[in-house]
Amino acid sequence: MADWTECMNFGMAIAREAREVILEAFRTKKDVMLKSSPADLVTETDQRVEKMLISSIRHRYPTHKFIGEESVAAGEKLELTDAPTWIIDPIDGTVNFVHRFPFVAISIAFAVNKQTEFGIVYSCVEDKMYQAQRGRGAFVNDVPLHTSGQEDITKSLVVTEIGAERDDLALCTMTANIMSLLRIPIQGIRAVGTAAVDMVLVATGGADAYYHIGMHCWDIAASALIVQEAGGVVLDLDGSTFDMMSRKVIAASSMAVAKRIAQTVRAFPCTRDDED
Ligand code: IPD
Repeated sequence: MADWTECMNFGMAIAREAREVILEAFRTKKDVMLKSSPADLVTETDQRVEKMLISSIRHRYPTHKFIGEESVAAGEKLELTDAPTWIIDPIDGTVNFVHRFPFVAISIAFAVNKQTEFGIVYSCVEDKMYQAQRGRGAFVNDVPLHTSGQEDITKSLVVTEIGAERDDLALCTMTANIMSLLRIPIQGIRAVGTAAVDMVLVATGGADAYYHIGMHCWDIAASALIVQEAGGVVLDLDGSTFDMMSRKVIAASSMAVAKRIAQTVRAFPCTRDDED
């Protein structure tokens, strides 16, 4: 098995540099641009941080490929091949960033042969560096992470997101899903505003499950590995095998909780990330 530790350490080092840029911009007023909907935002800082991360990595690893949220938004083809590929969200939680709601993260996953080898989620304001390497456990600021192990949905705290979709079908599906879970009943439902942080909360044991429809591969590729390495389960929304391109995910502390969520929630249609 190849050892990607050097790449991972490099990824964490450049994430620390990028955090400085994000924190400096965090307190100031931003010029906001819209992408796919009035709730899908981008700022000059998202674009600047992504360029900064990609140019540093490209300089060090000239043959590696990239999937970056803002590069794709600018028209670059989203393609995951077998080549070593960095999957980057420069600011996960851009709406939070714009409002100064203090949860924003840099998410960096690294895949080879389409398999995630390491994942980094840096929650910038909290200064929490989550990371995992395949087969080597998950950590936050070097402290090992373990999911809660909760098997009972009625004792579970569940995290989800109302994403950028604002059409009636998406809104009805998302609210109906929340009602169906609350009726089971689960113990509570939360949303942090960054898919990457939502998901790593399952790895910490602070939440027992997370599900989401409509997010993208760069939001969850890194945190999926962190949850798995912390002992959790990651599935597609219908309970099938996790597919980072499908834009649907469940992460949970146990298979029992994951399957119960899969039986309870429904998806609304969204185009796969790797579909033209
Ligand atoms: C978004 C955040 C948000 C989620 C959206 C994502 P971005 O990512 O993770 O919590 O609900 O689906 O697109 O645009 O801030 O990188």
